[in-house]
Amino acid sequence: MFVAAPIAAGSKPELYAGLAGQARGLLHGERDRIANAANFAALVWHALPDINWCGFYFFDGQELVVGPFQGKPACVRIALGRGVCGTAALTRTSQLVRDVNAFDGHIACDSASRSELVLPLLHEGRLLGVWDVDSPLVARFDEEDRAGMQTLCDIFLDSLH
Ligand code: SME
Repeated sequence: MFVAAPIAAGSKPELYAGLAGQARGLLHGERDRIANAANFAALVWHALPDINWCGFYFFDGQELVVGPFQGKPACVRIALGRGVCGTAALTRTSQLVRDVNAFDGHIACDSASRSELVLPLLHEGRLLGVWDVDSPLVARFDEEDRAGMQTLCDIFLDSLH
């Protein structure tokens, strides 16, 4: 049984470093994408304060389709280029949105969401999907979250092969 030890974190980098160690342990020895995505989302959900949704959208070759997540039920399909997720997928660049109301085309799955961080998941040049985290607070995410979340996503991607 995996036991998530409390992370003694004084700063965001410390929090993400602790979380990265836990993610490596949690995903170690398993390659199944859905299983690892589900456990990854649950790990982040319980470790990060002030978030109201976190989860995956996977690219099915045409559009993004919701995958394992924590939080309220979400929109199922998102076209490339639509919303924050579709923009991250199309441009293949992470999207750090301080205020979702100021993001043209933001898709409000949960009306409580105020800020959002989305990272594209790329493997050998191929788009696998995106990792999306929402917060009910404006400007919840900063560059330290972007860097920490990138490390976590790399651990998830590495676990798949
Ligand atoms: N807000 C996202 C949609 C997904 S949900 O937040 C879960 C977007 O604009 O792409």
